[in-house]
Amino acid sequence: MRRKDFLRMSGLLGIGGALSSFSKPQTPPTPSEELNSKIRTAGLTGGAFDLKSAPLEKVRIALFGLGNRGQSLIEMLNWLVQEGHAEITAISDINPDKVRKAQAQIGAFQSATPAIFTGSDDAWQEAMRADVADLALICTPWELHTPMALHAMNNGLHAASEVPIAYTPEDTVQLVRTAEATGQHCIMLENCCYNREELWILKMIEDGVFGTLTHAECAYLHDLRQLMIDPTYYEDRWRLKHHLQRNGNLYTTHGLGPVCMYFDILRGDTLTHLTSMSSGEAALSEALANSDDRKLRKMASEVVCGDVNTTLIGTAKGRSIMLQFDVHSGRPYNRLNKVVGSKASHYGYPSRLYVDHGPDWGGHRWLEDAEKAEYQDRYEHPLWTRLQKLVEDHPQGHGGMDFVMMYRLIRCLNLGESLDLNVYDGALWSLVGALSEASVAAGSARMDIPDLTNGRWKQAASHPVNRML
Ligand SMILES: NC(=O)c1ccc[n+]([C@@H]2O[C@H](COP(=O)([O-])OP(=O)(O)OC[C@H]3O[C@@H](n4cnc5c(N)ncnc54)[C@H](O)[C@@H]3O)[C@@H](O)[C@H]2O)c1
Repeated sequence: MRRKDFLRMSGLLGIGGALSSFSKPQTPPTPSEELNSKIRTAGLTGGAFDLKSAPLEKVRIALFGLGNRGQSLIEMLNWLVQEGHAEITAISDINPDKVRKAQAQIGAFQSATPAIFTGSDDAWQEAMRADVADLALICTPWELHTPMALHAMNNGLHAASEVPIAYTPEDTVQLVRTAEATGQHCIMLENCCYNREELWILKMIEDGVFGTLTHAECAYLHDLRQLMIDPTYYEDRWRLKHHLQRNGNLYTTHGLGPVCMYFDILRGDTLTHLTSMSSGEAALSEALANSDDRKLRKMASEVVCGDVNTTLIGTAKGRSIMLQFDVHSGRPYNRLNKVVGSKASHYGYPSRLYVDHGPDWGGHRWLEDAEKAEYQDRYEHPLWTRLQKLVEDHPQGHGGMDFVMMYRLIRCLNLGESLDLNVYDGALWSLVGALSEASVAAGSARMDIPDLTNGRWKQAASHPVNRML
């Protein structure tokens, strides 16, 4: 972490004070007390929880960042544009090649030409105008997510940002405060909440198959070494730079988002505290040291992010979550997707289901394929059943979940309905990442997770993703 960033975070969390006062007899304020007092000062109300806005017959979209993800989300909009539900009215990127590519991509399915905002680092600000677009779709490097989302809301646009939407506690508070003050939607685009397997598990949980839920394990394990080192994959190697400056869980949400749906987080339960530990670092620096590029070899000694970060999170209802992050080590992709209840358990990668059939059932074994298939048929999530044909007819990203996510976002805006995920969801899941860094920096100290909802999380509710629109 850069010194400037560390001071900013430690100042906000009171880490410096806590460490320096260990020898003093009085109890120093805990990091959470410091952060909670900032939240109290911010005057958060919980008022943006089920936020609705005026229906938008055709959602005008300004798209920021036209790299890997931006291009992929353009594809997700193809059908929605052709059906008249949306139009891409503006595109912005600092790289003229990517602008040209996106223009051609959009031209293949949309007759109106989007306005272009490029040529400087802050050209994007010109596109954030209510006469240009209704929705800012943010697919830029992480450091631009919060500034862009804030700018969008302050200028009368709804904000939809790629993950994570923030990585400092201060930014999560700012996002919530701004959404509450402006009445604009602010959603973090957590696509894994819409994956078929995750929705199936959610349906089984809702229908009681798992009994009482007690524990979950989730992760983002993805060997990104070569992509981070590649000179062109991530623009200006932005992702690698984070690993040279920060240590903790830098990418919490693909694993944590679905688990928060399973556990009714912010809809009857909430995340209360965490402790986080990073392993030492070896895999990324070894990959850098083996590079032909002298500049990259020099970076080998600069990596600060440990290879494997493990965060343990507790909830108000006494559940536990083990969350891992590792994009350095060589191993197959995995989000774990493990959930344990009093009557059933699921382990992902590959998907395995155990259902307790009582003492005479004949041992502890995962269900056979045919047995599991019965559960898959019986508990397929209605959202998936409804959109399956559309997904199959149009090749869509990440097995269809990206399309389902985009479909829901645009259709909710068309209908003037509240969104499936609100600003508090995105802020909380991002805050876990920020607090994991603070915990690692303080020797794995416990961090209390503050309430950004002003107590609204206590109201039990079925997850909005279960609504049929
Ligand atoms: N949800 C998912 O499954 C998923 C998958 C991939 C990436 N992502 C997320 O998407 C985001 C982008 O990742 P990526 O892989 O597309 O990276 P990328 O480097 O390919 O794309 C980022 C783009 O932002 C542009 N950009 C940088 N500064 C800009 C500025 N000032 N104004 C306008 N444009 C600017 C870059 O030129 C680049 O084209 C990241 O937040 C990443 O975490 C999410």
